[in-house]
Amino acid sequence: MMRKKHIGMNVRVLVAAFFLLLVGGCEKKTIPLPDHPGGQIFHGIKRSDVRCYRCHGPLGAGGPNAPPLVNNGKTIAHDPFVQMVLNGRGQMPPFQSVLTEDEILSIADWLEKVSVLGTGTAGDGPEKGSK
Ligand code: HEC
Repeated sequence: MMRKKHIGMNVRVLVAAFFLLLVGGCEKKTIPLPDHPGGQIFHGIKRSDVRCYRCHGPLGAGGPNAPPLVNNGKTIAHDPFVQMVLNGRGQMPPFQSVLTEDEILSIADWLEKVSVLGTGTAGDGPEKGSK
């Protein structure tokens, strides 16, 4: 008796959570991770030899080994960004033999979108801090 009731509760909670997710997904802009080529490169989805997230954290929010690349109070122009990634600096490895300039610019484009949308949770949409 007790057990059955318990399972029923769980299913109801799951169904509710599912619909909340659905509704949330429709109304809010989500982080453009899976379908943005830059985000795919950053997370090693596209290329297993490029995994920026291992140092810079998921969504570029910063990790134990590297500074955050989004919402860090900094802006970095495309040229220095490309140079930084091509050449590396200090503990940051160079990617000139692995990534093309276009791929690096794609990462920059994705990071800009993440910055605008906020990290981790769904943001308020690009119109808030459009860039
Ligand atoms: C092995 C760890 C590691 C990996 C992998 C890595 N980085 Fe870094 N990155 C760092 C470190 C450490 C720094 C800080 C370097 C310094 O200033 O001395 C840094 C700095 C940067 C900066 C400059 C940040 C600033 O505030 O000036 C950018 C941009 C950057 N990384 C982008 C990337 C991108 C894009 C990738 C993937 C293609 C990547 N990094 C992969 C460790 C890493």
